[in-house]
Amino acid sequence: MNEKEIAQRRTFAIISHPDAGKTTLTEKLLLFGGAIQVAGAVKSNKIKKHATSDFMEIERQRGISVATSVMSFQYNDTLINLLDTPGHKDFAEDTYRTLTAVDSVILVIDSVNGVEDQTRKLVEVCRMRDTPIIVFVNKMDRDGKFPFDLLDEIEKELKLSLHPLSWPINMGKEFKGVYNLHDHSLNLFTPNQKSTEENTLPIEDINDSVLDAKVGERDANQLREDVELLSGVYGDLDVKAYLDGKVSPVFFGSAVNNFGVKELLDTFIKVAPTPQGRDTDKRHVNPTENKFTGFIFKIHANLDPRHRDRIAFLRVCSGRFARNTYYKHTRMGKDVRFSNPYSFMAREKDVIEEAYPGDVVGLFDTGNFKIGDTLTEGEMMQFTGIPTFSPEIFKELVNKDPMKTKQLEKGVQQLTDEGVAQLFTQHGGNRKIIGCVGELQFEVIQYRLLQEYGASCAFQPLNFYKACWITGDKKAIEDFARFKQANIMEDKDGNLVYLAQSEWFLNTERQNNQKIEFHFTSEFKTALKN
Ligand code: G4P
Repeated sequence: MNEKEIAQRRTFAIISHPDAGKTTLTEKLLLFGGAIQVAGAVKSNKIKKHATSDFMEIERQRGISVATSVMSFQYNDTLINLLDTPGHKDFAEDTYRTLTAVDSVILVIDSVNGVEDQTRKLVEVCRMRDTPIIVFVNKMDRDGKFPFDLLDEIEKELKLSLHPLSWPINMGKEFKGVYNLHDHSLNLFTPNQKSTEENTLPIEDINDSVLDAKVGERDANQLREDVELLSGVYGDLDVKAYLDGKVSPVFFGSAVNNFGVKELLDTFIKVAPTPQGRDTDKRHVNPTENKFTGFIFKIHANLDPRHRDRIAFLRVCSGRFARNTYYKHTRMGKDVRFSNPYSFMAREKDVIEEAYPGDVVGLFDTGNFKIGDTLTEGEMMQFTGIPTFSPEIFKELVNKDPMKTKQLEKGVQQLTDEGVAQLFTQHGGNRKIIGCVGELQFEVIQYRLLQEYGASCAFQPLNFYKACWITGDKKAIEDFARFKQANIMEDKDGNLVYLAQSEWFLNTERQNNQKIEFHFTSEFKTALKN
């Protein structure tokens, strides 16, 4: 049985608006896990914001980033699987999908900038599955927003219920450290902390004069006032409410100074959920089930034309995954096995013999997988909850070389299987529209179609605002599709999609077509074979 393995594992992601400190925090967590020895090792993997059209740079980054897509390390008795999410907003869709493969997240907020654009979107995605969130307010060494104001902003803007577990003493140049509200200890701030030990001392009674001696009378009094206010509002953390995604514990710290990170990690280990079950189109799968199941949440193509292989990322959901064993690829209805599955234990890619719920396994793929595909020991079912979101930019695909039509079609199919972009084909027609989250993706597609498939294409900008998947009364949909012909597309699975020109159009159509439901996300409702 795999209960012991499950209890030891925590699978999560760090999310943030770019520049809030996700990479820095990741690096510090890896230092704690002994997975890396030097600071700076993770830093170089980031797709920097200026790399907008530097393809060599993208290629280089992608090459490295596959190794750090999942970082597994041991901390005390816990095996931590940290799934990386791309920082660049143009790859946001990749991040959304990665969030389907984690059991909880740590949200990093920049104390100076507060809630930012990307933060909002990411939290919305977490909320869809009630993913438990721990908040880390970073950059306390800078003059940021006042903590109470910041909590207020986070609660209002992100609609999160917060529960501070630590409280900062001043900020910026005057930052003295944090007081741990849970175990009543003072954690004193030392800039540029190199070691992984924190400078902590217990202060059971907040009126103890030791506090004044350590942080000065003014800050000590302010802390007393704050703590009194806090204790009136918050009691002990309701761990169940956190696990249900209803309450988010909050920590304050400074990632770059390695401050507050250990406190965060120790609490995370204690409260964060162990690998959870997942829903399929047939039933709920529990991690403790004996039989193996898992799904593909990410596909990473090798941009080096000499190595065309792709790596499919499999999240194990139940049972035990074993090397060289036949599993059912339920969408294709065929048996597949993997002789070189690899794990992502930090530093080296290692071929693994087995994996357990919560683990992520890298599978070499020659084009059999697409996002959302399910592997089982024979049961015909498909994991759900891995939706596609409406793209933000739409462009018509123009074939520039009719001699290479086949290559272009194949390339577009494969790249969209990988989830690089979404493909919409005109309902009853042949017009092809590509939808992406950011401009950068169009450049990547154009480049890859040429490099990998020898197909040359151009993109014609289109003025659409959103894609909505439509379901409902059959007759109403048929009429609507006829009436709105130019706006009705099919996604890759043949689901009908309405492309709205503007919010106004969308609202009008919703009002005029009460028998039709307009969805902003889609599940992968692929029909099962067999
Ligand atoms: P990201 O992955 O979320 O995009 O953010 P990243 O960790 O790269 O951090 C963004 C910038 O914020 C970095 O500075 C980083 O050093 C800085 N930073 C992270 N944590 C803290 C903190 O606690 N306090 C302060 N003051 N700064 C912090 P940069 O100048 O963009 O990069 P670098 O030159 O330092 O590498």
